[in-house]
Formats: sequence, C-alpha cells, structure tokens
Amino acid sequence: MPAVPPAIPDVSPFAARLRAGEVVAFPTETVYGLGADATSSDAVLRIYETKGRPRFNPLIVHVADLDMARRLVVFSPLAETLAAAFWPGPLTLVLPRRPDSGLSDIVSAGLDTVGVRMPAHPLALALIRAAGVPVAAPSANPSGRLSPTSAAQVTAAFEGRVPVLDGGPCRAGVESTILAVTGERVVQLRAGALARDEIEKAIGRPVERIGAGAAIASPGMMASHYAPDASLRLDAEAPAPGEAYLAFGDRPGTLNLSPTGDLREAACNLFAMLHELDASARRIAVAPIPAHGLGEAINDRLRRAAAPKS
Ligand code: TXA
Ligand code: MG
Repeated sequence: MPAVPPAIPDVSPFAARLRAGEVVAFPTETVYGLGADATSSDAVLRIYETKGRPRFNPLIVHVADLDMARRLVVFSPLAETLAAAFWPGPLTLVLPRRPDSGLSDIVSAGLDTVGVRMPAHPLALALIRAAGVPVAAPSANPSGRLSPTSAAQVTAAFEGRVPVLDGGPCRAGVESTILAVTGERVVQLRAGALARDEIEKAIGRPVERIGAGAAIASPGMMASHYAPDASLRLDAEAPAPGEAYLAFGDRPGTLNLSPTGDLREAACNLFAMLHELDASARRIAVAPIPAHGLGEAINDRLRRAAAPKS
C-alpha cells in the first residue's frame, strides 16, 4: 500500500490570529516559536505574559524573505554575506534597527539593535508570508524551561492555552546561532544550530566568542536556563545508582543522544530526550560530549540546564 503523505496544515487561520494580535506557536527548523505580530506592542506584550519572560530580554524577529529583513534593520556588506550564505537557516543576525522599521519598541527591549532571522521551515515561512508582518518569537517554552521540539511539548507546557501549528518534530533541535555584526566584527552571542567553524569558513575570518568583559552582551544569556526539574550531572563517564543516564556514542544508557557519535543527531535529540528523562527521573547523568562543531551548542545548553536555578 502506498504511504499516505502527511497532511500539510493550513496556515491561514494561524495567520489571521497573528494579524488579530494573538499569540500562536509555530514550528521552525530549530525549536518551536511562540509568535506574535512584531509591529504591535500589545501583541508582543502577550508573548512576554504567556512565557513569563523578563521584559529586559529581547525577542528574535522572524521574516519570510530578505526584503522584509531589510525594512527592519541595516545590513552591512558582511551581514549581507552572512544572510546570503545561511538564510533561510538557523542563524540570527543582531543588526542596527532602522528608525522606520515599524517594529514595536518592546521587541528589542529598548536596544538600538534587532535580532532577525529567516527560518528554514516551509510552514514558518508560509505563516509569516500569509500574516504579512514580521513575527517576533522566542522559543515556545515557559521562561527558563526546556525548549520544545514538538507540538505536543508546546501544548503540554502551556496546558493547551496556546494554539499550535503542528509541523512535526524539529530538524535541528537546538536554537539558532546568534551573531552580532558591527562593522568588521562578528561576535557570537549564543552558540547554536549553525556551527562556528562553518560561519568562519563562509566569511573567511574568525568569529569572536562572547566572554567576560565582552563589549556586546546578549541580555538573555542567564546562567540558569533550559532547566529540567531533575538534577543534571554532566561529563559523567557512567551513571551512579538511581541516576538515569543520557549517553552518547557507544556507551549504553537509558537513552542515547547518538549511538554513532553524530553531533548533528545529538543536537536534534537533546531537548526531546531531556524532556523524556525529566518526566521519569529525579536525577540525570549526561555522558561527555565533544566540544567541536555542534558540540559547542550542546555543551552550552547542558551547562545552563545543570546550573543552579535562580
Ligand atoms: O532558534 C531560535 O532562535 C528560536 C526560534 C523560535 O527561532 N528562538 C529563540 O528565541 O531561541 P529566544 O527568545 O528563546 O532567544 C533569543 C535570544 C535571547 O537570548 C535574547 O537575549 C537574544 O536572542 N537577542 C534577541 N535580540 C537581541 C538583540 N537585539 N541583542 C542581543 N541579543 C538579542
Ligand atoms: Mg529560549
């Protein structure tokens, strides 16, 4: 029997809700987003309320095409090169906000820059296009909790209060890489689904990493974030009695991020497996994950998930 192709959901009712100032969740290639019309302060405030997010933490604005992005922010030649190389894709560019952007001030929490990205997901692009407005969207989790990589996780996290456009599981599974581009400098504000070495290859120059004393900060990079309820112990060669074990490579585990040691697969599974173990275990031990490539983003998320909750 021929396989029945999955039904493609109709984006128009969700686009209508966005235009009416409501909040809807939608899939991207990284994680699900909690979207609202980025030009409406009322709509954007609803995102902060729904998430319980501190107001000083700015939101990423999602666009359907480069023209939409150019109406919001100023692209330097270097920013153009990055967008041409990686959009649509898991890269957020923090660029100077245009005075005539039409964006709500709340979106960027009063900063004179805006984080912009064109997601590589057909439903996300269709939704933004149908809404006809740029869409502000943080990850669709209550503030400080694990990011969702499936529609069911969003529905559960907000107890059905948010309509969810179901696009199946997310391909990348960790959030976008965030770069601040100022003049000739490229600073990585958040490691993410696009590995730093790929970016360096495309632009032929090093990407600076954010660190202590950095001139540009990402307000959202709190130490404790992406937190499960269970306690996390990292770099564990083996589980202690009573611990669930999140393995990597050829170690046996309760779950394994990637039995073949593939970092792309591990990134894709990370949040879903943490969600799953968090539902059944009080203590989770996680195997060492290599630091290169997508390992940078995976280790960043694990460190935050393991940090003491504030
Ligand atoms: O993959 C992603 O990026 C997902 C999907 C939904 O697109 N979104 C996401 O959004 O992860 P969120 O809100 O969870 O994280 C956005 C991060 C925050 O750390 C925030 O501080 C930073 O982006 N950010 C946004 N605008 C900024 C700006 N103008 N300057 C510096 N950092 C900014
Ligand atoms: Mg988030």
